[in-house]
Amino acid sequence: MIYSRIAGTGRYLPEKVLTNFDLEKIVDTNDEWIRTRTGVERRHQCAPDETTSDMCVEAAKKAIESAGVSVKDIDMVIIGTTSPDLIFPNIATLVQHRLGIPACPALATEAACTGFVYALTTADKFVKTGEAKCVLVVGAECITKLVDWTDRNTCVLFGDGAGAVIVEPSEEPGILGTHLGADGKHKELLYYPVGASKDLYKAGTEEVGITMVGKDVFKVAVSKLGDVAIEALEAAGVDRGELDWLVPHQANLRIIQATAKRLGLPMDKVIVTVQDHGNTSAASVPLALDTAVRDGRIERGHLVLMEAFGGGFTWGSILMRF
Ligand code: UT7
Repeated sequence: MIYSRIAGTGRYLPEKVLTNFDLEKIVDTNDEWIRTRTGVERRHQCAPDETTSDMCVEAAKKAIESAGVSVKDIDMVIIGTTSPDLIFPNIATLVQHRLGIPACPALATEAACTGFVYALTTADKFVKTGEAKCVLVVGAECITKLVDWTDRNTCVLFGDGAGAVIVEPSEEPGILGTHLGADGKHKELLYYPVGASKDLYKAGTEEVGITMVGKDVFKVAVSKLGDVAIEALEAAGVDRGELDWLVPHQANLRIIQATAKRLGLPMDKVIVTVQDHGNTSAASVPLALDTAVRDGRIERGHLVLMEAFGGGFTWGSILMRF
């Protein structure tokens, strides 16, 4: 039996940091509201000419280095994002070429904040079937360029960044189980109103921005993130007490706390980066993973549960022995 495992991780965050106090100068908000309602204190923002593929390339270089592989070893690229550079070619092809990775399958998974979990799940299947031997998986988002900066309900929440992993075959279990879900009936609660075949001419105008019914999204997020975590543990026959770390999607500290409570996990077993990154959508889980790997909290052999939830709605979890 071939297993797949994460061989290395990396991240990139844009240089510019926007604090809650900076946002007070842009919209009618205040640090206290943002911190107490969301847990966010600061977030990174891409420069005007910086793109999602720029961030992917930098995060990927770190992951390649930490995995000890060469770009020539990589035989598949999968990128989870909702803010690609171009409508086509897909962003994974841009990243493959820019990194000097030999020609190989390169695809993007668009599942909003669950994009990385969808991408890593796909990589897991290719490695387990023997069709890929070294997959670069990235979750990246330049989501501040999709935000309506006059809408205080949304603009205070989001940030930019990229997190990457290298996935390889292993004789020992790494990824133990993956669970994905989606239900399009919730589309109206969270969406971006412009696309390639709809109202593209409005892109970049003040009429357009991420549209969200926050309170309703909150309720479904808490429920689904709890469900998909429990589903992962039950399917693997793992007791909650055996988990070393939960690496949840970083949308709101209150959602993270509610999920931990439902799992009976103390918060010191939960990786929280929302205070520093805001909600980076598909980048949120790999950014949190790399942060905790590099600061020494997540160690080889630890049992880690990653999970995400996003527009669609989409959701997913990945249980792994790191
Ligand atoms: O990543 C994918 C999924 N996304 C999420 O999971 C997000 C889920 N939703 C949330 O995290 C929360 O619902 C929000 C953080 C978006 C909002 O928190 P809330 O506690 O649900 O607040 P609310 O939207 O009900 O607004 C409460 C009040 C309102 O004022 P009134 O009507 O009570 O007078 C808002 O106008 O807070 C006001 N408000 C603000 N005040 C200061 C909303 N945004 C702001 C703001 N600054 N930025």
